[in-house]
Amino acid sequence: PQNVGILAMEIYFPPTCIQQDILEDFDGVSKGKYTIGLGQDCMAFCSEVEDVISMGLTAVTSLLEKYGVDPRQIGRLEVGSETVIDKSKSIKTFLMNVFEDCGNTDIEGVDSTNACYGGTAALFNCVNWVESNSWDGRYGLVVCTDSAVYAEGPARPTGGAAAIAMLIGPDAPIAFESKLRASHMSHVYDFYKPDLASEYPVVDGKLSQTCYLMALDSCYNGYCQKYEKLEGKQFSIADAEYFVFHSPYNKLVQKSFARVVFSDVVRNASYVDESANEKLGQFTSLTGDESYQNRDLEKASQQVAKPYYDKKVQPGTLINKQVGNMYTASIYAAFASLIHNKHSSLDGNRVMMFSYGSGSSATMFSLHLSEGKAPFSLSNIAKVMNVDEKLKRRTELAPEKFVQLMKVMEHRYGGKDFVTSKDTSGLAPGTYYLTEVDSKYRRFYAKK
Ligand code: ACO
Repeated sequence: PQNVGILAMEIYFPPTCIQQDILEDFDGVSKGKYTIGLGQDCMAFCSEVEDVISMGLTAVTSLLEKYGVDPRQIGRLEVGSETVIDKSKSIKTFLMNVFEDCGNTDIEGVDSTNACYGGTAALFNCVNWVESNSWDGRYGLVVCTDSAVYAEGPARPTGGAAAIAMLIGPDAPIAFESKLRASHMSHVYDFYKPDLASEYPVVDGKLSQTCYLMALDSCYNGYCQKYEKLEGKQFSIADAEYFVFHSPYNKLVQKSFARVVFSDVVRNASYVDESANEKLGQFTSLTGDESYQNRDLEKASQQVAKPYYDKKVQPGTLINKQVGNMYTASIYAAFASLIHNKHSSLDGNRVMMFSYGSGSSATMFSLHLSEGKAPFSLSNIAKVMNVDEKLKRRTELAPEKFVQLMKVMEHRYGGKDFVTSKDTSGLAPGTYYLTEVDSKYRRFYAKK
């Protein structure tokens, strides 16, 4: 099979959200800390009738329906998530409901977990399957679904929630450049979930930022080396139209791209001009460790990177600024933002992707885009995702309500023997929701 990659996409995020500037006032932090400091506008969260399974069901059924794909055409289903609902039973098995109903139980794949990286692992599994001898000619389906919630404190405004479904097959408008991938995996305690009784992570915020940037440097250098070996010429940001990053919050994406530009300066890339050299040359002799702590370098590189950021990164930031960190779905929501903004004009473009999951695992890979034929075309993907409409029809909650809801969810996490309010007034038709968890922890869902 040729040009294996993403044929179709659908995104779902809860309609319940809170504005970051309102949260700033409520939390009593300095004005602008979340909106400018973190670069976030709004944050979505699951109400008590939604969870990662209901969101996954909604994204999957909507994708199959809107692109006219028969559930019997799916041969592999992979889920990426770091939201633990059950320590043994995979989220994938819950999604099997959709396929069992039409007699298709012959579907490989289970869940992949490592913080925000699980979705990328799931995606690679599906792409590799289609490219392999085991492929039976049917489609792969990847679902990234997460609810990112943090304990009260500085990390809480970096929450979010969403599910993304992606259909995988040959002759895709979004094709993998499979030879060009570089990973960085290491053992670090930057963000982890050792307390199985709590949905909240243990997080060392500052360390997680540094680990993210170190993994980025390592992956970018690895990618450049592989590119240079394969293509016989140097790689720089000039060789890709767009850069998409895992986005815990937008400020880190700004810093990440600046770091990539700094790498290009160190490697003396051909587009680097006199003025960039003047501003950044003095920092090229810093050791790696020094460079991560150096605030002057951070400022100067962001300044040099700014015009490139506006062109190559900003078009892929809308959903993440509006919804927040969606863990495994985050990088694909950023990619969805790019398709939403640029659709057909991406024809012939290369898009760089950087996926990071704490712990840690990270990969940089690249995609080659072409318009494709309906229903599997860039313009149709943008139309189906209908991002503007989904953002518009949300309900903003007051911070008191949000905090109250977080308390209810804390109590419900890992719990049994309860029925939900079944209040679906905010949900769009076709949305799945949780109705009950019975005395044996069995979960029940219904479709609006
Ligand atoms: N106006 C404008 N900017 C402000 C203001 C203000 N009033 N107040 C603060 N800021 C800026 C700060 O200068 C800082 O920006 P800088 O990094 O460019 O200097 C930024 O806002 C954040 O302020 P901090 O004081 O550094 O924030 P704090 O330490 O309270 O928390 C953090 C930030 C660490 C990101 C926290 O939200 C967190 O732990 N989040 C979860 C971890 C995370 O997402 N890590 C990323 C990779 S791992 C993953 O994906 C989960």
